[in-house]
Order: sequence, then structure tokens, then C-alpha cells
Amino acid sequence: MSTPDFARLPGFRDFVPEDLAVRSHVFDTWRRVSGTYGFREYDGPPLEPLDLYVEKSGEEIVSQLYNFTDKGDRAVSMRPEMTPSLARILGERSRGMSKPIRWFSIPQLFRYERQQRGRLREHFQWNVDVVGEADEAADAEVLAVALDALRAFGLTAADIHARVSDRRLLAALLAHFGTDEAQHAAAFGIIDKIERAPREKTLERLSAECGLEAASAARLTALLDDTVGDVAAVRRAFGDDEGVAAALEPVERYLATLDALGLGPFVTFDLTIVRGLAYYTGIVFEVFDRAGELRAVCGGGRYDRLLELVGGEPLPAVGFGMGDVVLGELLAEKGLLPDTTHTTDYFIVTIGDETRAPALGLARRLRDAGHSVTYALRDSSVRKQFKAAENEGAAAVVVLGPDELAKGVAVVRDMRSGGEREVGLDSIGVGVNDGAAGPDAPADGGGSA
Ligand code: HAM
Repeated sequence: MSTPDFARLPGFRDFVPEDLAVRSHVFDTWRRVSGTYGFREYDGPPLEPLDLYVEKSGEEIVSQLYNFTDKGDRAVSMRPEMTPSLARILGERSRGMSKPIRWFSIPQLFRYERQQRGRLREHFQWNVDVVGEADEAADAEVLAVALDALRAFGLTAADIHARVSDRRLLAALLAHFGTDEAQHAAAFGIIDKIERAPREKTLERLSAECGLEAASAARLTALLDDTVGDVAAVRRAFGDDEGVAAALEPVERYLATLDALGLGPFVTFDLTIVRGLAYYTGIVFEVFDRAGELRAVCGGGRYDRLLELVGGEPLPAVGFGMGDVVLGELLAEKGLLPDTTHTTDYFIVTIGDETRAPALGLARRLRDAGHSVTYALRDSSVRKQFKAAENEGAAAVVVLGPDELAKGVAVVRDMRSGGEREVGLDSIGVGVNDGAAGPDAPADGGGSA
């Protein structure tokens, strides 16, 4: 008989306490920054009808679905992204809600991806969306939230930048070069992959699949290269084309708003940003490390037709998703991960059986006051108990010996300074309830978590 294989599935993670501490730090920061922009948290089910993703998300995601038929014969899928769920949830109830709706969520998502750096089969993704506002001020607002969270982690404009574009502008330029609207989706797909494909291949595909003449294809790709960071160059070269000029306006206002929000140094105009998902209709962006070594930390854009597509009222919407995997890699690389050393406030050392019950009574009182307290769970030597206190990262050790107990005191040792003093049992941990040094702590501190 072969032994069953209980190994963790490829692409999934365990979160031991050190890892979970990092994850909590990331979630806490996401939540705090969401709050500073007035976003409210929501969630939905991790399992959805398969149809919610087919056609709406685009081929790539659909090929990565964790889907199956449930016991009631329903075609279902683990959620690979949050946006279709958001559209469904709002589709059912947005009519009575005041707009714009500012919502965020931190779902765990599942995609059967080919494993590579920064890509797993599950990840947590902070989703921030503004629904019910078509003005590009909403686009600027969501990018600003994303950048502010990255700033809150300690990243600067030297570390990261948002590459931004607008599908409407790219469509106007494609029209200028002679492609039909029917070929735009194909052109978007080719341009989305431009960085990863040899240039001849891109040119060849633009001609074969989008009907561009060889010279136009070459001019188009040169334009994409030459205008990085320079939206004004597009206006100089194509401002006479009515369609292009009209499509430039929202992008220019968007960039100006981001400048006014003080985020200009984080933003690079870049027409090669298209995004893989099918539902985007306007401004799109992705945030990358400046070195360009990692995959996108975050991506999003405007999707004005999705709510209607899932049966809701037609509402414009814009948002992004920021994953925890690439973000974790980036923070590790920059030395910005939080200190995950475990600490507790007090470890109580008992000496002899008769101190056990008073120790438990003291622990009860300290815990009720909000302190973290541990002690040995079995009889052991004082030396071993002190060793355990060190392992627990206790800030202070309370030694309860029979003689001290008889006097109604205990010896409190500050584990950092080594300083010790006798403290009345009733005064230990009294006064300060925030894990900072209590009145019992030796002069140089102690009792903090
Ligand atoms: P997305 O570009 O597919 O967008 O994902 C957003 C981010 O999630 C990526 O930039 C990446 O950091 C992370 N991510 C995606 N897939 C994986 C994976 N397999 N492993 C690790 N991290 C991953 C969306 O999902 C859109 N629904 C975002 C959105 C919200 N657009 C509008 N609102």
C-alpha cells in the first residue's frame, strides 16, 4: 500500500506565526489607508457560479479557473478575482444606494497559474473600487489610495511607479493608424504582451491580425516607445486628429489631478499598459518596481460596462487589485518587512506548589487588565522557567516565592535591563493598560509588549 501524499499543494502557502504577522501588517496597512479615503470594507463568497467569470474576465483568467460541478450539479468556480463578485453584489442592491460607492475588500483568490516568481495559486488581493462616478477624478482617487498604501509601507518614488494609460486613447491612435474597431481587441492583446515578445513578432502580428501596414505598425510601436513619460509628445504629434485630441483630455486631467495630490513623481504615462482583463474601458494602470525585476504589484482601471453586463444598473466603475505576493517580495527586497519577534508582557515564575494558585490569580487579574501573561504549564526549575520566559519574549518576569508571598510582594525583573525590584502583588500591572511599562516596572522600563 502506498502512503498517501499529504504535502501542501503547489502554489499554496502555510502561514506560520512569523508569516501571519507579516500578512497582518499588510492587511492592517491596507485597511488603515482605505479608511483615510473613506472606503468601507465588504466581502462575498469564495465560491461563485462559473458563468460569472466566463466572457467577463477574459480568456486568460478563465483558463486558470479552479472550477468544478458541485453536488447539486451547479457549475461553480473558486473566485479568481473580486471584480465580478463586486459587480454582482452591487447589481443586486446599488439602486437604493447613494453614489459614488467607495468599497474595499481583501479576498483570498485562486488561479491555477503556472508557478513562477510572484505568481502562486492562491493570493490575497486588496481591491479598492469607486462605483457610480465617471469623472477621471475617481480614477485618480483609486490610484492615489494604492500609492499611499505603498508609501505607508515605506516605499518611495525611487522604488516604485505607476505606469498609466487609457484604452480610449490607444483606440483613437489605432484608428488613426488605420485599424478597424473590430480589430482593437486583438491589437490590445498584442500591445499588452509587447514587453515580453520580440519586436519583429509584434510587428508581424499587428499587420496580420489588425490589418496595419508594415510602415504603420512600425510607426505605432515607435510611438509607444517614444512617448513613455511624455503625454505632451502625443498631443504634439497627433493633436490635429480629432479623435486623439478628445481622448487625450481625460488622461491629461487625470495626470494633473495626481500631480495636485502630490503623486506626480510616482506616475509614468505609458501607452503599452493595456491590462489583460477584458472588461476595462478607459484609464488603466499597473504599479511596478522601478528596477522592473518583479511582476506588477497592483493593477486596475476603469470598467464602465461590467455592472450592466451582470444584470445591474449601468454604473461606471474604477478600481484596482493589489496582491500580497509581489508586495511581500518587494518589501523584503527593500528591508521594509516588519519586526515579527514575538513578545509578551509578563511571565510568572512560581517557586513551590503553594505559589501556584496565587500565580494563577495574578495571571487572571493581569489578563483582565489587558496584559499578555504566560507561565510554565508544568512544574519546572526556576532556571527552566526563566529560559521559557526568554523564549516567550517576556518583557518582565514576576517571581513568586513563598517568602515574598508571605509579605504580599513579588520580585519583578525587567528582562531587557536585568533590573529587579520588589513590588506589592496588588500593584503589579496596575495603572497602565497599554502594554507599556506599569508602575511595577523597574526605573528603566519593562512590562511592554
Ligand atoms: P489582476 O491584474 O489580475 O487584476 O491582479 C491584480 C494584482 O493581483 C496583480 O498585479 C498581482 O499583484 C496580484 N496577482 C494576480 N494574480 C496573482 C497570482 N496568481 N499570484 C500572486 N499574485 C497575483 C484583477 O484581478 C482585477 N480584478 C483588479 C481590479 C479591481 N480591477 C478593477 N478593480
